[in-house]
Amino acid sequence: MAEAGRTIVIDPVTRIEGHAKITLHLNEEGRVEDARLHITQFRGFEKFCEGRPFSEMPSLMARICGICPVSHLMASAKACDALLAVRIPPTAEKLRRIFGLAQVLQSHALSFFHLSSPDLLLGMDSDPAKRNIFGVLEKNPNLAKNGIRLRQFGQQIIERLGGKRIHPAWVVPGGVSEPLSVENRDAMLRNIPEVLGIAELTLEWFKSTTEKLREEIGSFGNFPTLFMAIVKENGGLTFYDGKIRIVDASGNVVASALEPARYPEYIGEKVEPWSYLKSTYYRPKGFPEGIYRVGPLARLNVADHCGTRRADQELAEFHELQRTAVLSSFYYHHARLIEMLYCIERLQQLLDDPQILCKHVRAFARPNSFEGVGAAEAPRGTLFHHYKIDEQGLIRWVNLVIATGHNSLAMNRSILQVARHFVRADRLEDGMLNRVEAVIRTYDPCLSCSTHAAGQMALRIQLLDYDGQLLDEVSRP
Ligand code: MG
Ligand code: NI
Repeated sequence: MAEAGRTIVIDPVTRIEGHAKITLHLNEEGRVEDARLHITQFRGFEKFCEGRPFSEMPSLMARICGICPVSHLMASAKACDALLAVRIPPTAEKLRRIFGLAQVLQSHALSFFHLSSPDLLLGMDSDPAKRNIFGVLEKNPNLAKNGIRLRQFGQQIIERLGGKRIHPAWVVPGGVSEPLSVENRDAMLRNIPEVLGIAELTLEWFKSTTEKLREEIGSFGNFPTLFMAIVKENGGLTFYDGKIRIVDASGNVVASALEPARYPEYIGEKVEPWSYLKSTYYRPKGFPEGIYRVGPLARLNVADHCGTRRADQELAEFHELQRTAVLSSFYYHHARLIEMLYCIERLQQLLDDPQILCKHVRAFARPNSFEGVGAAEAPRGTLFHHYKIDEQGLIRWVNLVIATGHNSLAMNRSILQVARHFVRADRLEDGMLNRVEAVIRTYDPCLSCSTHAAGQMALRIQLLDYDGQLLDEVSRP
């Protein structure tokens, strides 16, 4: 370990999907001055799609990421609907909504129970060897079992609709390929009371843990930013369709009813030399002042209501946490749990609708437009797919804007805040490393799809001095 000016690198971050490295840069006084999350792998999916028939895009796009295939499938199919310029049958839209809600539920369950509950249950300073889902199983078996059950419920819906859990190709341009059977509907409905009970219990448990995490709540990405999400026309929470709304840190609406298809007018994309991940910003405020957050915390700051009974009660309480927008990224967990309640309640509403069994679920057309944008709220935030095609219907150009890119500026700033709060001089102590990882996990970044790399995230943290010399380094497999 060196003396003056330093940098710390954390590589790999455990319990995140993908692969990344963090560097912490110290100034001459040994204080953390800058923090960077480096996304270093790249598979070039956007380039890879050029020349493919547009109709192949949904199933191709579902292969970008093994973690969130359904989200890419959905945004891709919506971009293809725009190329066809058709209105899809109402039942197809409802079935896609069910598919999307199931994906949000299983993804949120993975994030909360498998990836983050060990920190909450066992403590940020507990033994890293035990701070995982097996440690949770040992200390609070019901919590672990409930997490597995909620995730399984979401995955089973995806399997019943999509045929297979990973890379399902049931969502197609113009609708979906198969209607819902009575048996499958009844099987999904049967489990709802049980999983609703689990979601309620988990939310109560989470609220009971926050008292002893005041320091983390105060320092985990607790700063003013804008928040962006798609909302329904009436301002309600949605995952499938609507217009973009942006609120500021005070909770005031700064832009509303923005057309998702016109995203390049209000969202700028910037590639930092040290990362393959594009950082986005709100154009009217410029870079980096146009920093905003997406995902569960943003959706609940942006939405006026959820539109289901229990989730609305919880949303009212959530909005009471702060007079302004809820600013600490620690509350992504809280928002995620409220969204899980909403998903289950909303699934019940959709499955109870008699129209859900209608056999007309697909519109057929040739392409009627050379350009199409599909946008949806994925578990981690707003997802845009943007395609241009030629006269033959072959893809000429693709742009994807993913949740992890929207949150990139905020994640970097959050890492900096935690590092400043918890890093002591030139040593990489476990408690600090755990918190740096934990703050990244609040965003649940899908580094698998931001880097377009497959597999489990690995993270390395490096500590560098002011002239760039490596002082200390820690890797987590
Ligand atoms: Mg892209
Ligand atoms: Ni992904």
